[in-house]
Amino acid sequence: MLGYKPQMAVAAKSGALTVALADPDATARLAVALAPLLRPGDVVALRGELGSGKTTFARALIRALTAGDEEVPSPTFTLVQTYAAPAFEIWHFDLYRLQKPEDAVELGIEDAMADGVALIEWPERLGLWLPAGCLDVWLAYVDTGTGRSAILSGGGDWPERLRTLDHG
Ligand SMILES: Nc1ncnc2c1ncn2[C@@H]1O[C@H](COP(=O)(O)OP(=O)(O)OP(=O)(O)O)[C@@H](O)[C@H]1O
Ligand SMILES: [Mg+2]
Repeated sequence: MLGYKPQMAVAAKSGALTVALADPDATARLAVALAPLLRPGDVVALRGELGSGKTTFARALIRALTAGDEEVPSPTFTLVQTYAAPAFEIWHFDLYRLQKPEDAVELGIEDAMADGVALIEWPERLGLWLPAGCLDVWLAYVDTGTGRSAILSGGGDWPERLRTLDHG
């Protein structure tokens, strides 16, 4: 059984993709599959409870877009870490400790969204600042076993882009 949560069902727009992730490697493989679809200006909202695998997903995505052996610490305390990919800068945010949406300006959220690729853990903290065209990646615990499930859905042209995602 996949661990659907009510808010995930509401968020799953048409063209949503559901993927079972048996272990951390499966989470990483899904992120690696997403990497070639990303373009400057993309925002990836990494949603899910504490420990659902958001950083695991972001780390694999960043490594796929960079040299591959990059240290990718969780931005739990720094709130943001940046990385250079050939075609854009990657901004990895963890907004759990953000007090109010406008505090994200100091972290560079506007530059990140303008021409970088923004990977955002706890995107709810941005409130209405989160663009409608973002890709939502919902990660959830499953009811049985130790794995996770993912639902990917997004605005803009994400439904078409997700159809090309080769997640094996
Ligand atoms: N598909 C999976 N199946 C089982 N365990 C997983 C899976 N994906 C990630 N994990 C494990 O879950 C744990 C928490 O992962 P991670 O730190 O990525 O979560 P997080 O959502 O970023 O947490 P936080 O909310 O604290 O930022 C790690 O031990 C990771 O290896
Ligand atoms: Mg995390």
